[in-house]
Amino acid sequence: MQMLIGKTAFITGAAEGIGFHIARTFAQQGMNVMLADIDAGLLEQARQTLNDEGHSVAAVVCDVAKRDALETAAKATLECFGKVHVLVNNAGVSVAGPQDRISENNWRWIIDVNLMGVVYGAQVFVPLIKEHGEGGHVINVASVAGTLGIPFAGPYCATKAAVVSLSESWQGELKSAGIGVSVLCPAFAKSRIYCSERNRQTEYGGVPGLDAKPSPRTLELAAKAKEAVTTGIDTAIVAERLLEAVLHNELYVFTHPHYRPVVEGRSQQLSLAFDAADASPVLKAVEPGEITSL
Ligand SMILES: NC(=O)c1ccc[n+]([C@@H]2O[C@H](COP(=O)([O-])OP(=O)(O)OC[C@H]3O[C@@H](n4cnc5c(N)ncnc54)[C@H](O)[C@@H]3O)[C@@H](O)[C@H]2O)c1
Repeated sequence: MQMLIGKTAFITGAAEGIGFHIARTFAQQGMNVMLADIDAGLLEQARQTLNDEGHSVAAVVCDVAKRDALETAAKATLECFGKVHVLVNNAGVSVAGPQDRISENNWRWIIDVNLMGVVYGAQVFVPLIKEHGEGGHVINVASVAGTLGIPFAGPYCATKAAVVSLSESWQGELKSAGIGVSVLCPAFAKSRIYCSERNRQTEYGGVPGLDAKPSPRTLELAAKAKEAVTTGIDTAIVAERLLEAVLHNELYVFTHPHYRPVVEGRSQQLSLAFDAADASPVLKAVEPGEITSL
């Protein structure tokens, strides 16, 4: 998207952290912004702050794990601003620990928020963007953790990998409607993601929930993650980088260029796995055939 002035963005998880700074950055470009979040108190503070700065903002309480909450939020967005052009699926939570210690409740929570929240967001908002025919942009907030597996961070990596994959799929699907897609893949940025269980809904165990007695390994990992996040880059910089990427219609958006070797290491391993398949006597007799694309 080139022209943001006068357009409308809907942003989930906008009460604080990366989402709040995306809201401020987009509002500074002259966009109308609808802030959405599960935390009603902080959401109202965020709306007030941006309103006091002179921006065109409104807010709606919304749990992204519930499709009907997104439908209600979409209605409120249209009532406030008439149209919507940019969807930012930013709300996300973190679950970590040894793979045999993660409760089913926590699995369901992270899948419903990090993955289904993105799916519901797109299912509800993309038709509204298509409807006005002015084009738009879908931004999914994944993580650099969505481009590789990290020991003891399986639930987070799996949901973020799914978000990267959805973004790649949707780019091809939405192009003809003039809708760009970007997937934001930050490494550590200063926020409160390390204590995301503060927002865990009662149906997933509430706060502190079923993992009230975490293993020593889980506690050690939590302390390490907190240290990395609290010493990470400013979320305002993440938002500035995202704006730059949206204006250039970039698909993958990285914010920590020094992580390149980590991501490239994975690509090299994939390439080596193809070498092994190439050399495999088991596959020697198989006719290669065409590469199938849809
Ligand atoms: N901070 C980092 O280091 C980092 C790195 C990579 C990716 N990310 C991703 O960035 C996104 C934003 O995280 P952050 O770092 O700003 O964390 P944060 O915890 O500071 O902010 C998350 C926001 O999402 C809201 N939220 C949580 N559950 C919700 C739900 N069910 N429905 C609606 N809103 C909900 C919270 O109230 C909060 O306002 C997440 O998707 C996260 O995975 C963060």
